[in-house]
Amino acid sequence: MFDAESFVSQKIDELRSQIDGKAIIACSGGVDSTVATAMVSRAIGDRLLTVYVNNGFMRKGETEAVSDILAKLGVNYRVIDASDEFFDAMKGVIEPERKRKIIGEQFIRVFERVARDYGARYLVQGTIAPDWIESGDGVRDTIKSHHNVGGLPEDMDLKLVEPLRDLYKDEVRQVARCLKIEVAERQPFPGPALAVRIIGEVNRSSVAIVREACAIVEEELEKAAAAGKMELPWQYFAVLLPCQSVGVHGDVRAYGRTIAVRAVESVDGMTAAYSRIPHEVLERISVRITNTMKKDVNRVVYDITNKPPGTIEWE
Ligand code: XMP
Repeated sequence: MFDAESFVSQKIDELRSQIDGKAIIACSGGVDSTVATAMVSRAIGDRLLTVYVNNGFMRKGETEAVSDILAKLGVNYRVIDASDEFFDAMKGVIEPERKRKIIGEQFIRVFERVARDYGARYLVQGTIAPDWIESGDGVRDTIKSHHNVGGLPEDMDLKLVEPLRDLYKDEVRQVARCLKIEVAERQPFPGPALAVRIIGEVNRSSVAIVREACAIVEEELEKAAAAGKMELPWQYFAVLLPCQSVGVHGDVRAYGRTIAVRAVESVDGMTAAYSRIPHEVLERISVRITNTMKKDVNRVVYDITNKPPGTIEWE
């Protein structure tokens, strides 16, 4: 049985002897990186600088929410807006693995700049077991290169520290509860962010569409769960598909994009079952998306694929 309390005290001791000098930590505000931030901060105090990178692919209001979380944690942090360089790097890129590798490399380039400026030799990441398992290691097949593993460039000049490397999501949540971190129950959000929820090119307009659709899906499911109509799924979001289809608004022909709604139940993200969302809630999501986003979207579908054979994210 996993014992969160002894994991925390053992890891903090280990981190103290492992990190001599300054370190930076990449924190997205998700459960994994926030837990890692809290632990390393307890271990080395103000020799740690927490870095949140806004890559331009974040959800609605996320940058403000994460700044809030970091301020409440009481850590020394910096918010870096690198959206221009991320969007430039994504021009014309369609293939999911290329997207992931480019994003991983862009992150590292930003971290290297900040580390040089701060005088740090260590980069801490909140990598957990499924990240490296799915990224492949020469023995296992690469399912997808998680941004913080398979996307790391070979010439990186920072020493990597990964205190949560052997944990699964449910264990990280236990650690979060033990540390009384408020993001413990937040749904997972992938490091490459909305970029892997756009099938096709990632640009400012495709991100704006999926960002709005994700916000609607989150809001409607959270409202339905709060009203007791359903349990909140383990993870839930929108995906922008590349195909267009014919529709009709009033008596005018539409030729718009399609949004797929994805919601799953899982324990650790390694396997998942699609959520049995009540039809009235799905309809509400569909009506709201097609009404408020009618310029761009005229069709909404629901993904009923388990993992395996699907994965949770579409890319
Ligand atoms: P998949 O799509 O592989 O996702 O079934 C399993 C869980 O991992 C999240 N995910 C990621 N998390 N970096 C992360 O930090 C990544 O590159 C990444 N890719 C997927 C996904 O959201 C799900 O919770």
